[in-house]
Amino acid sequence: MTNFGRRFVTLEGGDGVGKSTLQAALVARAESGGHEVVACREPGGTPLGERLRGALFESADGETDPTAELLVFEAARAQLVAEVIRPALDRGAVVISDRFADSSLAYQHHGRGLPADLVTQANEVATGGLTPALTILLDLDPSEGAARRGAAGDYLEREDGGFHGRVRDGFRALAEAEPGRWLVLDASQSAEVVADAAWKELSARL
Ligand code: TYD
Repeated sequence: MTNFGRRFVTLEGGDGVGKSTLQAALVARAESGGHEVVACREPGGTPLGERLRGALFESADGETDPTAELLVFEAARAQLVAEVIRPALDRGAVVISDRFADSSLAYQHHGRGLPADLVTQANEVATGGLTPALTILLDLDPSEGAARRGAAGDYLEREDGGFHGRVRDGFRALAEAEPGRWLVLDASQSAEVVADAAWKELSARL
């Protein structure tokens, strides 16, 4: 069952591509257009989700089993959908999430190699079929993302270039497969150019 959240927007891409900068710009523009806007991030966005995020990112390199990793992201996602996203959409707010279910397909399927149908099923359980109406991919060469972000902070950021290359290619394949939902933006452009292009697409749907 696909359940499109008409006012649900997600931002996706590799590490260091500028999703949080874009999120802040979109929140400001939507709010000045008179909309109630709820911004959230994954993993996290709820007290339980933030604790799960902390537990995951305290992991040592190579410690976390890929299936366990997937299920922690899904647990945080289920809590975020139940506690924040569904209630906000139900009262008519615009929800802009920094990452959502597509990150699990890009990172845990394309990056880690878990089967696509396993990740899709886990996403379905966590989201109850909730799918964003618009997903914006900030596409950037992983080496540029790493340079922007500086010293790698967590074990996922410390994965090698091959992993981050598969994640990037994975996101692009997801966008190609569903062009009606995805907007792909070249994240090497200035933050302002990226925000203008994203807002043009988002505002047309509000
Ligand atoms: P975060 O510090 O939020 O990084 P970013 O600013 O790049 O979003 O860490 C999120 C990390 O978790 C990031 O490396 C992507 C990864 N991730 C997954 O592997 N699977 C998922 O389902 C999600 C939501 C995130």
